[in-house]
Amino acid sequence: MTKLAGTALEQHLKALLEVPSFPPPQSFVDNALWSDPAVYAEAEADPDGWWERHARALHWDTAWDTVLDWSDKPFAKWFVGGKINASYNCVDRHVEAGNGDRVAFHWRGEEGEERTITYAWLHEQVQRAANAMTSLGVGAGDVVGIYLPMIPEVVVAMLACARIGAPHNVVFGGFSVEAVRERMEESDAKLLVTVDGARRRGKTVPVKREVDHTLGTLPAMDHVLVVRHTDVPCPMVSGRDVDWDTALAAADPVAPATPFDAEHPLFILYSSGSTAKPKGILHTTGGYLVGTAFTTKYVFDLRPESDVFWCSADVGWITGHSYIVYGPLLNGATSVMYEGAPDYPHRGIWWETIERYGVNIFYTAPTAIRACMSWGAEEPNKFDLSSLRLLGSVGEPINPKAWLWYREVIGGGNCPIVDTWWQTETGQIMISPIPGLTAAKPGCAMRALPGVRAEVVDNDGNPISEGQGLLVLRRPWPGMLRTIFKDPDRMIRTYWERFGVDTYLVGDAARIDADGDMWILGRIDDVINVSGHRLSTAEVESAIVGHPKVAESAVVAQDDDITGQAIVAFVTPVEGTDTERLDQEIRDHVAEQIGKFARPKRIIWTADLPKTRSGKIMRRLLRDIAAGRELGDVTTLRDPAVMGALRELIAARADSED
Ligand code: WTA
Repeated sequence: MTKLAGTALEQHLKALLEVPSFPPPQSFVDNALWSDPAVYAEAEADPDGWWERHARALHWDTAWDTVLDWSDKPFAKWFVGGKINASYNCVDRHVEAGNGDRVAFHWRGEEGEERTITYAWLHEQVQRAANAMTSLGVGAGDVVGIYLPMIPEVVVAMLACARIGAPHNVVFGGFSVEAVRERMEESDAKLLVTVDGARRRGKTVPVKREVDHTLGTLPAMDHVLVVRHTDVPCPMVSGRDVDWDTALAAADPVAPATPFDAEHPLFILYSSGSTAKPKGILHTTGGYLVGTAFTTKYVFDLRPESDVFWCSADVGWITGHSYIVYGPLLNGATSVMYEGAPDYPHRGIWWETIERYGVNIFYTAPTAIRACMSWGAEEPNKFDLSSLRLLGSVGEPINPKAWLWYREVIGGGNCPIVDTWWQTETGQIMISPIPGLTAAKPGCAMRALPGVRAEVVDNDGNPISEGQGLLVLRRPWPGMLRTIFKDPDRMIRTYWERFGVDTYLVGDAARIDADGDMWILGRIDDVINVSGHRLSTAEVESAIVGHPKVAESAVVAQDDDITGQAIVAFVTPVEGTDTERLDQEIRDHVAEQIGKFARPKRIIWTADLPKTRSGKIMRRLLRDIAAGRELGDVTTLRDPAVMGALRELIAARADSED
């Protein structure tokens, strides 16, 4: 295909917008792992048998006696009685099969440095790290915090934890140290693995120094293990801090992979819900491994011997856990790991990376696609992307135009796209096209994977065969969350109360079309999705009102062309406060409390917020205001005058911006 850009591309995409669905290319179907729709019926006829069959792809030290124990609903147990070691399955197994020299990761740094990480290297490093952690007093069941940038050591640290049965609690590098402190305290982490400094667009952030300022003394935290990645000064606290390289060099290179119960906790990952307090989503070992290994293989049609896979997420989010670390490694795949941002050192760096490593399967987020789209097709057009054979999208709804741009400009019009819907809680992809099997509609996640049962229901929980409603999952799946750490009641309340313990309430609205295909519309709760980063309005509000000059705040989401949603904060300053420069102060404060990605895009000052008679802030009206829409029903407002005042304020602001 000739590479289009500018107006010619616009016209081409416009014509394609009329095409209702895109079947996979015949050449793909001919070679696909799955091209027979019988897989759906087969799984439906015997879901337990289906998952059991796929569980056999892994190495179990002891076989399970029961596939699923669902007697204590909604707390499921999978592969009951089975024993397994996650790190053995990710690493040792491939080395023992003679694939030690296979590349696990082509790592590329921000400044173009490269490291080739083989399975044999991982094997040695993981064992050394496991022994180093053991010698620091970490044992099975102890939580280990990990706050690292996108460097191979993050994988080593995670797998070392898995090897010794210490659940990891990874915090995304974009979170502030305050957020790290909270998560460490909350999970009683005994050890934190962190880094001297992290590189962000050519600058070095002194991570360890910031950690030291904020961490203080946490009662459970005995040690901090520090990876050296940059040359930034790195203070070490004597008796507490240990240098990673020194510890690994001193450690025994052999650490047995102890088999753990299938339900032994593998990790906790904090995720935003409707309240200000993030939830510690707990995943266990056997089922999660089965779910991620299975989906990596069949959703991405992965051939570990020949494919190069690249998931561009950060390892600190569930997408990174499942599709950078566990899923690909369980399959013995070769992946790309890139340290930096898509626009550093230049806006073609991703495409240059795809050309350089011959990436075959590329998995990214709509927000990134939209950003690249706004930079123009000229960037990707400079590179040879013909190695690509499959594209994936995750994290937020993808608008048809971005989907088509991805398909045409990146995929050369020749790669199936899998729009994969899932969550931190589901652990694994749940709704997605199967690339050799499903004709994909732009912007549609299509249907539940074989073995998964998803439905769209009305407010009473009755299935809708066509139309809009709430997305639910009707039966357990292996990778599902097992509980919310330390708060099992919240697990029940959040997901299993509304429609009972047989029905998992996802928290997303969805539309089912006449063909039975599912379109995910977005959250129904106060969770917002900024660039695929999940945040709760309450979390951001709580950070804003933590600022001494703020009396009250309400945060809503506004649609955004690039980031999907953007944060708009309505803020009432403390009386008599000068709001000059307060904008910036508040943004900085949010960056400190949560992370830069949570900073409001717009702050609107207001003397009052619209509330119901019972004092609840009417976010619906604020959303209307932020979007410049006609206001909806205002009859329940306690003080209707507030709306008039707000409207005037916004009109005045719009004038001044003109
Ligand atoms: C949204 C990320 C539409 C959704 C893996 C979900 C999506 C939330 C898609 C989970 C998709 C994820 N289409 N929306 N393909 N994938 N979402 O926990 O609202 O960070 O509930 O997991 O992202 O976000 P989380």
